[in-house]
Amino acid sequence: MSRIVIVSNRTPGKGPAAGGLAVALRKVLSEREGFWFGWSGKLTDQPAPEARFEDIDGLTVAQIDLTRDDHHAYYAGFSNSILWPSFHLRLDLATIESHWYEGYRRVNQQFARALLALLKPDDIVWVHDYHLIPLASELRNLGARNRIGFYLHIPFPTPDALYAIPHHEELMRDLSRYDLVGMQAKRDVSAFTEFAEHQASSTFGGHRAKTVDFSRTEVDAFPIGSDPEAFARLAVSPAATKMIHRMRRAMGSQRLILGVDRLDYSKGLPQRVEAYEKLLTNNARLRRSVHLLQVAPPSRDSIKEYQETSDALDAICGRVMGKFAEPDWQPLTYVKRAYGQPSLAGLYRLARVALVTPLRDGMNLVAHEFIGAQDPADPGVLVLSRFAGAAEIFPEALLVNPFDTDETAEALRIALDMPQDERQQRWQALMAAARKHNVDDWALGFLARLAPGMQDKSTTRDILYLASVA
Ligand code: F6P
Repeated sequence: MSRIVIVSNRTPGKGPAAGGLAVALRKVLSEREGFWFGWSGKLTDQPAPEARFEDIDGLTVAQIDLTRDDHHAYYAGFSNSILWPSFHLRLDLATIESHWYEGYRRVNQQFARALLALLKPDDIVWVHDYHLIPLASELRNLGARNRIGFYLHIPFPTPDALYAIPHHEELMRDLSRYDLVGMQAKRDVSAFTEFAEHQASSTFGGHRAKTVDFSRTEVDAFPIGSDPEAFARLAVSPAATKMIHRMRRAMGSQRLILGVDRLDYSKGLPQRVEAYEKLLTNNARLRRSVHLLQVAPPSRDSIKEYQETSDALDAICGRVMGKFAEPDWQPLTYVKRAYGQPSLAGLYRLARVALVTPLRDGMNLVAHEFIGAQDPADPGVLVLSRFAGAAEIFPEALLVNPFDTDETAEALRIALDMPQDERQQRWQALMAAARKHNVDDWALGFLARLAPGMQDKSTTRDILYLASVA
């Protein structure tokens, strides 16, 4: 049977804190031969050209080191100061330094050279995310003929935003060297199709550039999911219950409104707190009876726009505290640190409302995990941004425009006032959708499409079915 090779910028770490994606792909690799390939997390002056193999909790991982300069240009530079803001339609937050592209390309070439040395001709290669768009091109330039798939974990940009990215044509040509490109949502496939069908050829420098030929690349939506059953179990585990008791002691009978997000400008955190401020302004009866907990672990904090987002959030949380706090009541708690999945499952279980309001998001797995963790008899309500990929899967959430803080404030009020039977009905539909879009089926569905002949006989029928409904 062919081996599976998973490639991503970060590789899974040691210990139990792995996210749903790492757990699902671990499972894929435990059922067939293969390995995970990526950056080691180490920066050195003279990285060795070959990868080092390591066993990480039973998973075979091959890693390479990078130089500090290359890593800066590739990760903080081209990936996170150009691609990330542009793909999230925040061109105002993009910083364009042309030399970053060379570093981005160099790192992809380094990945390709080290990976090629490990590849067998029939290995199936599955590349993840925007850091590695050129990897198939670089592998193919070195002679690789393998089936290579790419999965984008963030939204695909509209054509205008794409045209604003330096070297966008080369990047799109890079995408055309994959056999299969997977996106989060139908919205992303539509944006891609719009670009592919109406490519504006560049006349820069007097040459009409050739348009990109996508005829050999399949592009489709493969909405990622979580493991809702695992979250249901985790939410009643001793660690989750400990967190619930701790919170109940602190909050008494107040109802919890919960946000859990990396501290990233795409998550709409200041707008969310502003909506909460409007909720308290418009509904004096709710003061002292609700509490907003925003968990926001810092992220990419070497980048100026991330520091500014953090400052903006500090300022608005301070404003809401100053306006509403009393000596014996605080309207909100804002925690800038990460929690493990068991503690988060406890928080999700306790929350009356989850506020998942990114300005734009690939899927948003917090929405999936919150649904999985609910008590079926007394579930909480999901207030969800219509600009998260999850909105396509969860129409029974209260869908809001996160830029419209009046609308979000009103959705919060409706969520807090929602009768139990309506909460149950909505949750049942949401849980059915979360089960249907679980992460195991997502991984099998993608691989079945990338390499239809690779499964052993016992699983082929199931996998083909999954591919047909993906
Ligand atoms: O959502 C995209 C993503 O790259 C995820 O795959 C990852 O978990 C997250 O952003 C955090 O990214 P970083 O590796 O930059 O911390």
